[in-house]
Amino acid sequence: MKFPKEFLWGGATAANQCEGAWNEDGKGASIQDYMPHGIMQGPSEVIDKHNLKLEGIDLYHHYKEDIALFAEMGFKVYRMSIAWSRIFPNGDDEKPNEKGLEFYDNVFDECKKYGIEPLVTLSHYETPYHLAKKYDGWRSRDLIGFYEKYVRTVFTRYKGKVHYWITFNEINSIWHFPLMGAGILTPKNSLSAQDLYQAAHHELVASALATKIGHEIDSENKIGCMVLGLTSYPRTCNPDDVIATMEESKRGYFFTDIHMRGYYPSYALKMMEKEGVVLDATDEDLEILKNTCDFLSFSYYMSKCIASNPEQYEKGKGNLTTGVKNPYLQESQWGWQIDPKGLRYLLNTYYDRYQKPLFIVENGLGAKDTLLSEEKDGYWVEDDYRIQYMNDHLAQVSKAIEDDGVEVMGYTSWGCIDLISASTAEMKKRYGFIYVDRNNDGTGTFKRYKKKSFYWYKNVIETNGKII
Ligand code: BG6
Repeated sequence: MKFPKEFLWGGATAANQCEGAWNEDGKGASIQDYMPHGIMQGPSEVIDKHNLKLEGIDLYHHYKEDIALFAEMGFKVYRMSIAWSRIFPNGDDEKPNEKGLEFYDNVFDECKKYGIEPLVTLSHYETPYHLAKKYDGWRSRDLIGFYEKYVRTVFTRYKGKVHYWITFNEINSIWHFPLMGAGILTPKNSLSAQDLYQAAHHELVASALATKIGHEIDSENKIGCMVLGLTSYPRTCNPDDVIATMEESKRGYFFTDIHMRGYYPSYALKMMEKEGVVLDATDEDLEILKNTCDFLSFSYYMSKCIASNPEQYEKGKGNLTTGVKNPYLQESQWGWQIDPKGLRYLLNTYYDRYQKPLFIVENGLGAKDTLLSEEKDGYWVEDDYRIQYMNDHLAQVSKAIEDDGVEVMGYTSWGCIDLISASTAEMKKRYGFIYVDRNNDGTGTFKRYKKKSFYWYKNVIETNGKII
């Protein structure tokens, strides 16, 4: 298998799922600190001490050890997020929290020590809670200004230390979970199409503004958008299923088109018209949107099937959105359908559409791991299933590059170290190359153990993918 010489191999995490230290050194609460059950139940009124994310895997105090392990695997890049509420505890504060800024200085310095490039997500499902409570998150236009101040602060502070940025994690998730995607506390069933499109517009403007500011502050910065990437297949060749799939895809392309082309495409205007949405978009907003991204990044875990009559089929499972089940695919222990070829397909569709570099910034298998009673050949977890999953996906990435000519910048596997899952807020769903001793009931020592996949990935990186 062939990968370009400069291919950015690495792993990915998000602050709210791994850092812990939820109220240390001046950090304010984020929406995640009020979401003990992920997306499975609504937010809690008060901080629930059983919320595993409050302590995460305590990366806040283990970052040196963890980055050293990433370096041992040979990471070229480490995707992580800055917890917005570590920098601006309430989101609308006058001044940033110096302690929070220092923490990320230390993390970036540690990465630099090993020649690892940070890839920083500016907002990964962790809107400051105060902004959710006081403004109902991104429903308010005021959030654009607060986000602008935040990104200006971090772009300036980390100039020269960080060159790769992502504006919002899975920005298209607002359609499915407005709280996670846009910090909106109002329950989804009380939100109108107008509310959702308007909030999405505010995020899109903020994202383009971040791209503009990031380029102005450092012309070396590469700034990307990020979406939940889901390949959608028609369930059958019935033209009704094909049209239903086309309609579904438009909702998916809505965000990437605006980010990569710089304007609302005609189908998007029609979608809003049909749903009776009258967008409050100023001339200045439309001008800002013209600041398009340098790359498109996405997560990829599964594909889905679309049917014009979905009630006839068994429903599929997934993190935020699903269609109907595909009879040709196997599924993970959480019922997510595994489809490596769907990744090649998605890479091709995005590249054909935009002709801009792509970055796979999340992919991996959430599975229950068993810690061995004793070390075996240097590892503690025999996770051949994970190796198989990633091997099969990387083989398809290689095909997209070699056979199809797609430009892929890199690959960061999700949860390169075990962390708290987003949708179900649990520890037992593990993605990592590194096992962390923490359990669903909150017990555990936080000790780190290498898995068999640790050595496999090290070898993949060392050989630039030749062993795949
Ligand atoms: C993506 C998110 O949707 O999926 C991550 O960006 C998340 O934050 C990942 O962790 C996997 O989902 P889950 O629910 O298994 O953690």
